[in-house]
Amino acid sequence: MGKLALAAKVTHVPSMYLSELPGKHQGCREAAIQGHRIIGQRCRDLDVDTFVVLDVHWLVNGGYHVNCNSGFKGRYTSNELPHFIKDMDYAYRGNPQLGRRIAECANAAGVGTRSHEIDSLELEYGTLVPMRYMNGDGHFSVVSVAAWCAWHSLDDSRRFGAALRQAIEASDSRVAVLASGSLSHRFNDNGSPEAAMHQISREFFRQVDLRVVDLWRQGDWKSFCAMLPEYADLCVGEGGMHDTAMLLGLLGWDGYDKPVEIVTDYFASSGTGQINAIFPVPA
Ligand SMILES: [Fe+2]
Repeated sequence: MGKLALAAKVTHVPSMYLSELPGKHQGCREAAIQGHRIIGQRCRDLDVDTFVVLDVHWLVNGGYHVNCNSGFKGRYTSNELPHFIKDMDYAYRGNPQLGRRIAECANAAGVGTRSHEIDSLELEYGTLVPMRYMNGDGHFSVVSVAAWCAWHSLDDSRRFGAALRQAIEASDSRVAVLASGSLSHRFNDNGSPEAAMHQISREFFRQVDLRVVDLWRQGDWKSFCAMLPEYADLCVGEGGMHDTAMLLGLLGWDGYDKPVEIVTDYFASSGTGQINAIFPVPA
């Protein structure tokens, strides 16, 4: 019998990788990296065997998609930000059985979903960055789910999340689910000073983000779920915040009542709002 052992919303900002390298940005994202390490250790303590990453950098235009190759190995450079992430080596095992089951359960629930085992279907950095810090030794298997759902309703993503929970519980795996994406996601304008790398693009976004984090701390999911569509729209949510809709679908949507555990405090990165937070799994 499988188990959802941990759920979290996590950052994946490319400046985390930059933070590792010698130079003026070294150490700038240490808090975010430490947050990932804490979540990774928590997963080890819970005997998790597989990460399912809801990745807002995997763009899809129709249907839901799961990358469940038997393994992933390569050297990654971001097309979007090659000056931030370049030549990043990675190697992880996959969990094809779980990926196939996710698609079966979602399809049975009426959410059209394909699982893919295509060697040349690679991981995006919404998966690769958290795995670098939580799973650097390849201890855990990895399944990646497309969560930049360009033409999808948030309600369908909620239902995908509910089906994901069923799939996990019908599997043989102990799973941690990561919603890998930001809060507000309005980048700084081109030509902004380099120091803006640590600032929010607009005070409005920071104020809404902080209110959202308050709701999360209070476990007020009724209010948050009611505002999610407008929040995702007005605050330019990353990937339409389909990662967050899936995560809350997994946990019970507006019937969920647990306060989050903040692992890395809210911070701004290149104009966007970021956080690492564990969402306690209901018994
Ligand atoms: Fe991102």
